[in-house]
Amino acid sequence: MVAHLALSFWLVLAVDQSTLQDFCVSQPNAQVLVNGLVCKDPKLVEANDFSFSGLHIAGNTSNPLGSKVTPVFAAQLPGLNTLGIAMARIDFAPWGINPPHTHPRATEILTVLQGSIEVGFVTSNPDNRLIRKVLQQGDVFVFPIGLIHFQRNVGDGNAIAIAALGSQNPGVITIANAVFGSNPDIASDVLSKAFQLDNGVVKNLQSKF
Ligand SMILES: *[C@@H]1O[C@H](CO)[C@@H](O)[C@H](O)[C@H]1NC(C)=O
Repeated sequence: MVAHLALSFWLVLAVDQSTLQDFCVSQPNAQVLVNGLVCKDPKLVEANDFSFSGLHIAGNTSNPLGSKVTPVFAAQLPGLNTLGIAMARIDFAPWGINPPHTHPRATEILTVLQGSIEVGFVTSNPDNRLIRKVLQQGDVFVFPIGLIHFQRNVGDGNAIAIAALGSQNPGVITIANAVFGSNPDIASDVLSKAFQLDNGVVKNLQSKF
C-alpha cells in the first residue's frame, strides 16, 4: 500500500505542475530561485515573450555525432515558463545519430519532416526490450517519459525531425556523457565492473567524454 502510494505520488510529479494563472513569462536575471522561473510583471508582457524565431534554420551537424538539436525550451522562449510543453528541431547529417539519452521530465513526440530516421527506446528492467522503427516523412513516434531512446538518419541525405516534449524544461541525460564524462570522474573500477570492460578501455572512454 505504502509502495503504491509512493509510486502514484512519483507519477503525479513526473510532469510539470498545472498553472495557477494565465501565464508566467519568465523574468530575465531574476535572483530568486524557484521551481521553474520567476514571473515577469504581466503588465509588461508582450507578444515577443511568447515567440521564438529561427526553427527554419538547419543546425550545424559537423560534429562527431552528425546531429544537432535546436531546443525551444523555457530558456529560449520565456512564455513557455509554467506551461508544461516545449519543442526542438533535430538535424541529421547522412547516417548521423542523436545518441542514447533520456528526458527525466518529459514524454517526447517526434515527427519526421525530411528523410528516413530509425528511432528506438528501451524498456526498463528486467526486460530491456528495444522498441524500434524506421520512420519516413510525416511519420510520428512517441518516446515515453524517462526511457532511454535514440535516433539515427538511415538515409544518404540530410534528415530533419521536430519533437514536442511534455515539460517546459525536459532535461537531457546523454548516457555516454553522464556515465563516462561525469565531473569528477566516476571511479573507473565502478565502470569496469558495471560495463564488464577492462580498466584501460574505461579510462580511454573517460578521456573521450
Ligand atoms: C559548423 O561547425 C564546425 C565545427 O564546429 C565549424 O568548423 C563550422 O564552421 C560550422 N559551420 C557553420 C556554417 O557554422
